[in-house]
Parts: sequence; structure tokens; C-alpha cells
Amino acid sequence: MAEQIKILVSTMTGTAELVAEEIADALSAKGEDTEILMMDDLDVSVLNSDSTYIICTSTYGQGDIPDNGQAFVDNLSIAAPDLSGIKYGVFALGDLTYNQTFCNAGNLFDAVLKKFGAIRVGEIMRHDASSGELPEDQAGEWAEEWLEILNAA
Ligand SMILES: Cc1cc2nc3c(=O)[nH]c(=O)nc-3n(C[C@H](O)[C@H](O)[C@H](O)COP(=O)(O)O)c2cc1C
Repeated sequence: MAEQIKILVSTMTGTAELVAEEIADALSAKGEDTEILMMDDLDVSVLNSDSTYIICTSTYGQGDIPDNGQAFVDNLSIAAPDLSGIKYGVFALGDLTYNQTFCNAGNLFDAVLKKFGAIRVGEIMRHDASSGELPEDQAGEWAEEWLEILNAA
């Protein structure tokens, strides 16, 4: 079990933060120590092997990372830290109407973390806003399943 599960949030209009809160509640109910961190001004040194991470991000523009997460990704690429030993999951929010770029920010975070040696736990969760289901309603169940995969790994 990781010492802490940190949920890093990249959002434009706040839905991903609601999702992060549901994930934190579900994990806390399973006895996990969780912390939600907005990506604004977040230093890349937040990533270390004492914690496990969940990236909670929406997608904007044309498959872009929301404004509050862009600097974090840019700084990560510049710092090029060794992330081996670090595990992470991805809950991506998007809309299938944007079919070419559906949940692309989730893919971008996944790619950069993988590039520096971190290991993804489970598949990327891709929520489709056009499905009519609220992402925060799916988040708790997803988090419980993700935790099972983490603990089995
Ligand atoms: C202007 C705009 C552009 C968007 N572009 C994309 C996109 O390229 N790909 C995608 O999957 N979703 C896209 N979306 C959908 C959002 O990612 C989705 O509504 C998400 O739930 C918003 O979460 P947030 O409130 O955390 O930012 C876009 C939404 C808006 C309003």
C-alpha cells in the first residue's frame, strides 16, 4: 500500500475536481490516505515513490490539457525526472463529440509519465460527457476497481 494516494487535478470548469473528490471519498472509505492537489503551480517534485498518483483531467481546445495543468506537463518534460517506481492511474474526462481528440489530455499525461518511467495501473478511464452519465457518479466505482488492481499489482 502506498503511503498516500495523491489526486492531481487539471480542469477548466471544475468537473474534474468533483470527480477527484468522489475518488478521494471512495479511497478514504477503503482506508487510504488521499490528498487532492490542483495542478496550478504544482512543482514536479510532487512526484516521488512515497506516493501513488491519480491524474484527473478534462480535455479542452483541440485535444489540449486544461490551462491549469499545462505548465506542470511542460515542466515535467523539461525536468525529465526519473519516475521509475512510481505508479499512477488516469481518469480522463472528455466528450465523444470531439471524436478525433476524445480524452486526449488523459493520453498526453499518460505518455509523459510513461516516458519518464512511471507505470500505469489499470486502463485509462475515459468518461464521455455526451453519454448523459455524470463522471462524478462513475468515479467512486472506478476508484474502488482501480484500488483493487493497485493492491493486486
Ligand atoms: C471548448 C471545449 C473544448 C473541448 N474539447 C474537447 C476535446 O478536444 N476532447 C474531448 O474529449 N473533450 C473536449 N471537451 C469536453 C470536456 O473535456 C468535458 O466537457 C469535461 O467534462 C469538462 O471537464 P472540466 O469541467 O473538468 O473541465 C471540450 C469542451 C469544451 C467546452
